Amino acid sequence: MNPVIADQSAIHKAADLLRQGRLVAFPTETVYGLGADAKNPEAVLRIFAAKGRPVDHPLIVHIADKTALEDWAIETPAFAWKLAEHFWPGPLTIVLKKHPDAPMEVTGGQNTVALRVPNHLVALELLKAFGGGIAAPSANRFCRISPTQASHVEEELGDAVDLILDGGSCQVGLESTIVDLSEVQPKLLRPGQINRLEIEEVLQTQLVMPKNPTIRAPGMMEVHYSPVTSTMFCSAQQLQGVFQNQALLNRKIGIVAYTLEIGASSQIHVITMPKQVDDYAHTLYNALRELDRLSLDIILVEQPPQTEEWRAINDRLGKASKFLSEVMG
Ligand code: TXA
Ligand code: MG
Repeated sequence: MNPVIADQSAIHKAADLLRQGRLVAFPTETVYGLGADAKNPEAVLRIFAAKGRPVDHPLIVHIADKTALEDWAIETPAFAWKLAEHFWPGPLTIVLKKHPDAPMEVTGGQNTVALRVPNHLVALELLKAFGGGIAAPSANRFCRISPTQASHVEEELGDAVDLILDGGSCQVGLESTIVDLSEVQPKLLRPGQINRLEIEEVLQTQLVMPKNPTIRAPGMMEVHYSPVTSTMFCSAQQLQGVFQNQALLNRKIGIVAYTLEIGASSQIHVITMPKQVDDYAHTLYNALRELDRLSLDIILVEQPPQTEEWRAINDRLGKASKFLSEVMG
């Protein structure tokens, strides 16, 4: 399926396809989503088939504005309205108790529902033209890297999707932050560009950071967001050491560098990442995809800073790779 430029006529065609129970990939500010009519269980099941994703993994419902929250959730706490007011449209997903009309297919059989108003003109126009909630996970095959450009969706899903709206490259480049407000204690289920401190500032309370959330969240699985090439996450010091390692002699190596300056050669492909956190996030998945295409033996990723601001990036890198020290012992 070739992507089409997301002009008004393409957006209206996409809305029609959604009404017919078909699948439409569309850009958001975080990553591209694979959308279906969230009220149509058959359409929603098509998403799972296209991605190769187990059906008990819940999907995010995208809505046009915060007033639609009550169509999907019940017992909405004041915290939810505060976050919606402050961060929507934006890269924040809120988990709430589900409305009885929210199909079980969307929520993976759980009694909670995840909701988000995306901050992207194409996504918002599509939501308006369609007039209902759009269930959309990231538009990649299960356990692969999320797409941040329309061409990535085509690579991932081919003809399993009925239309790909091309809205250029996604500004944020990492999946949304997920906050669970379905119980008394607010929990951070997935870190993202909107960080813990910003959310705590708005809620004036601390977020619980569950190590192993009991709610099934594929983004929380250990191997996720991964390239096909074996990928290792390591400190700058370890990276230096790698070049002395005989086992890697004559191997084709990809490097995602942060501070390290390494010369490229026919065997070594280096991508030097931006120093600023939002710029780094914006280019990360593209960099991993680019290296993944080169049929390398290994991809080495230099660990960026370990501060709260960088938590989402470290989380995704940790899931895309193994720690070199674990592998080398
Ligand atoms: O930025 C994003 O969030 C993108 C764009 C397209 O909006 N979507 C995305 O969807 O990343 P997906 O399916 O790849 O990840 C959604 C995450 C999963 O980890 C899922 O388990 C979690 O949201 N989730 C969905 N419903 C949930 C629920 N009721 N309770 C807990 N986690 C939930
Ligand atoms: Mg995903």
